[in-house]
Amino acid sequence: MQVIKYVFQPHGDERGQLVALEEFKDIPFKIKRVYYMYDTAEGVIRGYHAHKSLEQILVCIHGSCKIRLDNGVEKKIVPLEKPYEGLYVANNMWREMYDFSVDAVLMVLASEIYDETDYIRNYDEFLKFTKNFSDTVAAQGIIL
Ligand code: TYD
Repeated sequence: MQVIKYVFQPHGDERGQLVALEEFKDIPFKIKRVYYMYDTAEGVIRGYHAHKSLEQILVCIHGSCKIRLDNGVEKKIVPLEKPYEGLYVANNMWREMYDFSVDAVLMVLASEIYDETDYIRNYDEFLKFTKNFSDTVAAQGIIL
């Protein structure tokens, strides 16, 4: 199972840090939507779905959380705790986000606008869907 993490370029100087993300340069797709989660209650697990076509990059821009990825055969847990790291999540990955610190802000860059019909929320349906895929390899990034 290939899990791809991006390490973005921080532009740091004596004033502090700045990370800039541009589509097709730092992010391997056109960014059509950005959303973020914060004030996540203790013990909450979000996600529990895959997508038919949506690609995402997850960046925990403050605090920390964990992402459990599942390709239908293997599972991998990726901690996100650096504002300059992004986790690539292909459409055909079942994802769960959990263990949010109280100050966590999880930002998601998405390749498509919100479309409920793109969601696969049933795990058995996901297993049927994902059987037709091999691992997706993004253009850049570190394979974990
Ligand atoms: P939900 O799908 O439950 O989030 P997750 O599965 O990632 O934990 O989304 C929560 C609510 O927000 C739900 O009412 C749909 C809405 N929503 C939007 O309106 N636009 C979006 O881009 C997203 C991701 C969610």
